[in-house]
Amino acid sequence: MSADRRASIVAADKKYVWHPYTPMDRYIDVTDPLVVDRAEGCLLFDVDGRSYIDAMSSWWVATLGHNHPRLVRALTEQAQRLCHSSLAGATHEAAARLAEELVSVAPQGLSRVFYSDDGSTAVESAVKMAAQFWFNEGRFSKKKFVALDGAFHGETIGAASLGGIEVFRRPYAGVLFDCLRAPEPSEADAYTSVFNAIERMIVERADEIAAVVLEPLVQGAVGMRMYPAHHLKRMRELCTHHNVLLIVDEVFTGYGRTGTMWACDQAGICPDILCVAKGFSGGMLPMAATLVTEQVFDAFRGAPDRAFFYGHSYCGNPLGSAVAREVLAVFRDEQIVEGVRAKALMIQKAFDDLALMPGVRSVRSLGMIGALDLAESASYLGQTGWRVYDEARKRGAYLRPLGDVVYVAPPLNIPDVQLDRLLAIVKESVSAAVGGP
Ligand SMILES: Cc1ncc(COP(=O)(O)O)c(C=O)c1O
Repeated sequence: MSADRRASIVAADKKYVWHPYTPMDRYIDVTDPLVVDRAEGCLLFDVDGRSYIDAMSSWWVATLGHNHPRLVRALTEQAQRLCHSSLAGATHEAAARLAEELVSVAPQGLSRVFYSDDGSTAVESAVKMAAQFWFNEGRFSKKKFVALDGAFHGETIGAASLGGIEVFRRPYAGVLFDCLRAPEPSEADAYTSVFNAIERMIVERADEIAAVVLEPLVQGAVGMRMYPAHHLKRMRELCTHHNVLLIVDEVFTGYGRTGTMWACDQAGICPDILCVAKGFSGGMLPMAATLVTEQVFDAFRGAPDRAFFYGHSYCGNPLGSAVAREVLAVFRDEQIVEGVRAKALMIQKAFDDLALMPGVRSVRSLGMIGALDLAESASYLGQTGWRVYDEARKRGAYLRPLGDVVYVAPPLNIPDVQLDRLLAIVKESVSAAVGGP
């Protein structure tokens, strides 16, 4: 029965669904997809009833695991009262209270919340806010954005323009706007030359620069590249001094992923604009926010043509807002960020040990992220990570790689016994895929 069901789902999928980030010929001809039927906590169950530890929190969103009972309850209760109402000259309790609660846990200084749908639109909003901020201030030359090599900020044209992963940019050359691009980091100097270069850009071209945009501490999509917090602090000081906005994209790093509620907390900074999505939504519904300081917000007040003429149908959606409020409540009541510390040590120790394995070129970890490179210059299109993926799947983990980079970013509340098992599976799978003891 389940074999028939599986086969018919896969047949419909392969005939009609265009998958994200997927070379489709290979998918249709070769891939035997995981057919997920249900999920609970950190486990995904396929249609045959087999379980898989969700090593990457389903693209980094299921920070509290799947189907957390409190989130499910918040969703169903809200659904019985109000599923949708726009924020066009109207409001509702969930969006209003969520904004207040989000500001209370955000880096101090952020005071206004603009809602959107996902990480890309949170960043798109930030880009437009920064551009219009300077327009409204009468500083018409400040239109350029500074972004990192290997940056990933999402898929809309504005967010993708900030992106610095060549394979994602190439087809859209001439459509994306140009950024001032920092040079490729070298592992040897822990991003010092990158941030030195940005400093030079800021000092020499502040009159043209609207904002510096950063993934704080971890550049996720390019392969979990990490840099120390003091660079963030220095960027904050430079941006303030030279009158450039600092946009921090906490879509991946926010909500405890790096071991603190915000990656910004580790540098003790507050950006001018902060983007949040993924963990913010509890992995239930698309939901995102862009937070700004009162100074940024003030530039949009006054005459009607100074307003931010931007928005999405679902911004501040009541279902998403109700769940996001409950996510914050669970973080508080279950002390999620505090609980990360011991688990982060488990990840760090396991990845440090993996560094000794044949085939592993380098390892790094921070908070609830552990990553290893299986090639000298690990590439997004590299295939070695996929061999590890196949091995991990046989052993009961869903461990989607970033090309040659194998990583874990499990739910923050993963029970120790499952985390232990996941880390053992990573070791066994790397060993099986690339050789070793
Ligand atoms: C740092 C960062 N910003 C933005 C995005 C885009 O988020 P979404 O896929 O929800 O649009 C991502 C997605 O991985 C991300 O890692």
